[in-house]
Amino acid sequence: MKVGVPRETAAGESRVAIVPETVGKLAKAGLEVLVEKGAGRAALFADEAYTKAGARLVDSAQALLGEADIVLKVDPPTLAEAGGLKEGAAVFSYLQAWSSPELLAALNARRVTAFSVEQIPRITRAQSMDVLSSQATIAGYKAVLLAADRLPRVLPMLVTAAGTLAPARVLVLGAGVAGLMAISMARRLGAVVEGFDVRLAAAEQVESLGAKFIGKELLGAGAEGAGGYAKELAADVEAKNRELIKKHAADNNVIISTAAIPKKKAPLLIPEDTVKVMKPGSVIVDLAAETGGNCALTVLGQEVVAHGVTIIGPRKLPAALPAHASQMYSRNVATLLLSLVKNGVLALDFKDEVVAGACVTHAGQTRGAA
Ligand code: NAI
Repeated sequence: MKVGVPRETAAGESRVAIVPETVGKLAKAGLEVLVEKGAGRAALFADEAYTKAGARLVDSAQALLGEADIVLKVDPPTLAEAGGLKEGAAVFSYLQAWSSPELLAALNARRVTAFSVEQIPRITRAQSMDVLSSQATIAGYKAVLLAADRLPRVLPMLVTAAGTLAPARVLVLGAGVAGLMAISMARRLGAVVEGFDVRLAAAEQVESLGAKFIGKELLGAGAEGAGGYAKELAADVEAKNRELIKKHAADNNVIISTAAIPKKKAPLLIPEDTVKVMKPGSVIVDLAAETGGNCALTVLGQEVVAHGVTIIGPRKLPAALPAHASQMYSRNVATLLLSLVKNGVLALDFKDEVVAGACVTHAGQTRGAA
């Protein structure tokens, strides 16, 4: 079977689904790898590195899609790309399928087997396929660097001949993969760090990284839902949490917010009156910008200044570090694909938890998980 890797075309995308180091692994499993010319350029992987690893270069996306039995992508295929897939081909990407019925229809019209990689279940066996975690790791890291870059003060305590500088204070809201990475990066850079989440398990994880968990007294039984994810909160609990965050916002120089609930709008944790109490020059990096934002004043894809506070709402933050983000994505998606290939062909067991969770279209039908 032929595996095709097209160049990503979405605005702001610089990642590539497969990097050269993964090509050999796919070839060993009996797969031929086709790569569109220039597919890895934005992530600094040259065409020659792919050919050296055993891939064959193809001149255009159109030619590649028309030939590949399996297409590996980062962003969802456009409707035109979906229409250009071979009948009965398979595609693996962030499909965000529930948000695009037109895409599902286009995939079904070509009888495409489509895997939505963000729907891979968070089970132990699938950890090495978990693109959400790997990309969140990169986003959490970069969020701290963005904040440090915009902040008019240093992060660590500095004892100098000109006297001692106090360390910056960083508050991280939401302590999942991105939040915990942000906490650990901010600590490594010397900041004094506080963390907040609505899940009980997060408190211990925050403290194990040397940060202070705030609001343990508000947690009660915690808001842990299915799969270890957070649930939506009752309005009175949300209000209490917002009060707590407001109190702490006044003392912190940076807020990095990462709170998310799967398939729902991000919870509002930083209304305008909280921004108003922050010190001038403070920075908010809102990693939930793409799902509506944790801060009321966040503008997706922009950096705005309101009440003296810089608010950054990044879009596709992992794409800001395309070399490592692509390397992790490539390892994840290749592990998923290789777990499904037997004797050089895709052998799907729809009773398998990973296939059941992530496969959204097959044989002309949309499956329940979408
Ligand atoms: P996420 O990106 O979905 O959300 C970020 C964080 O926001 C979560 O920790 C969530 O509890 C928190 N949050 C939601 N609503 C909030 C609110 N109103 N106020 C404050 N915080 C709020 O999270 P991520 O990184 O995807 O992790 C979610 C869960 O998945 C965790 O339990 C994590 O341990 C689990 N997980 C399991 C993996 C595995 O077993 N393979 C891999 C990665 C994560």
